[in-house]
Amino acid sequence: MLNESICYRDGKLFCDDVPIADIVTETGTPVYIYSKRRTLDNLKHIQTAFAALNPHIHYSAKANANLAVLGAIIGAGAGVDAVSAGEIHRALLAGAAAEEIVFAGVGKTADELTYALEQSVGWINVENMGEMKLIDTIASRQNRPPARVALRFNPDVTADTHPNIATGHGGAKFGLSAEVIRDILARQAEYPNIQIEGIHIHIGSQLHNTAATQQAVEATLELIAPYPAIRTVNIGGGLPVAYSPEEHIPDWETFASALTPLLMGYTVMLEPGRSIIADAGILVASTLYVKEQAGQSFLITDASIAELIRPALYEAHHEIVPVKEPSTVSTQPYHVVGPVCETTDVLGRGVRLPKMEPGDLVAVLTAGAYGMVMASNYNQRPRPPEVVVLEDGQSWQIARRRETWDDLTRYEL
Ligand code: LLP
Repeated sequence: MLNESICYRDGKLFCDDVPIADIVTETGTPVYIYSKRRTLDNLKHIQTAFAALNPHIHYSAKANANLAVLGAIIGAGAGVDAVSAGEIHRALLAGAAAEEIVFAGVGKTADELTYALEQSVGWINVENMGEMKLIDTIASRQNRPPARVALRFNPDVTADTHPNIATGHGGAKFGLSAEVIRDILARQAEYPNIQIEGIHIHIGSQLHNTAATQQAVEATLELIAPYPAIRTVNIGGGLPVAYSPEEHIPDWETFASALTPLLMGYTVMLEPGRSIIADAGILVASTLYVKEQAGQSFLITDASIAELIRPALYEAHHEIVPVKEPSTVSTQPYHVVGPVCETTDVLGRGVRLPKMEPGDLVAVLTAGAYGMVMASNYNQRPRPPEVVVLEDGQSWQIARRRETWDDLTRYEL
């Protein structure tokens, strides 16, 4: 969606004070463009909404792990939620202090755990019994203080979101049941190299109401009540973002005021990803062709599901707007599609746009989260560059260059 940073001025789409068309002249298309100003505003907004709990914010790097983006968020004081050794490595490169990194994930390998412990990450969120044993064994070999862990609880609640991004129901692979958590806590002595200090939940992403989260937090607090050593509650991510003006979602203050009374007195951690970076980013594409077929208009662009898979994977809606603001109110519906050989290669259906011609630019909005990180080289497409417009709103940098055809064969022997 358009916002203070991604908006029209004098008939042109801007990212802060930079015309999108100026960036494209240098980078070509497709290209991801992020506003650092909007990113940091979103972080501040969350901090302010939850201020009464004074939470530790750990940005979920999986949403957008570009080093410049990570560095900006870390520079503003956030820690990082990492789900692989690769993300830990990136977070450290981007300037995170190891103790500000939380290592989460349903299937951490022994190599990853060894690396995380060697680096002395702040927390490991544990998701199964076998992992407890593995961490204990690895930590016993390393001559260091016990590993600090949080147990990830699966509270068996159904989040109001797309089923593909719900994680807190009993049938999901994530977390541990209350029974297993009680069992682990009863047998803590078996893990002398582990200190269990926290509990972790994450019931899903893009949450459409607060009820399931409230229910999950209540169940969590009930579960840990008999264990006074557990004073830290990590309530995960999931704060929603409006992808269209019609999408009704609770604002972050509503989440904060629903949860604050429950969590007062605990040390609270949050892992927002989408809410920090989604609406700070856009994917800009050029029109290659317009094709009329079977009574429909297809706008064929040089961006595809290889660059942005969300519409295909989650039926996700992204607004698509022309980079040149239409001078006329007359619009027509287009199916905005890419060149990839898949029927699902559709970025938007029935998108109302002014009459489009080859070369005309469009911007896919709210594409900063789970965009480039989920991009692939399918159909041997080089991944696009990423640009960051800096906080002054005027300067910008190419934070990642466009891949080349040679990059595509680089790893083959
Ligand atoms: N913490 C945990 C344990 C998570 O699994 C996730 C997201 C987050 C935090 C961050 O959630 P957020 O604040 O971004 O909602 N690719 C999907 C979203 C997958 C989310 C996976 N986990 C999409 O494009 O919608």
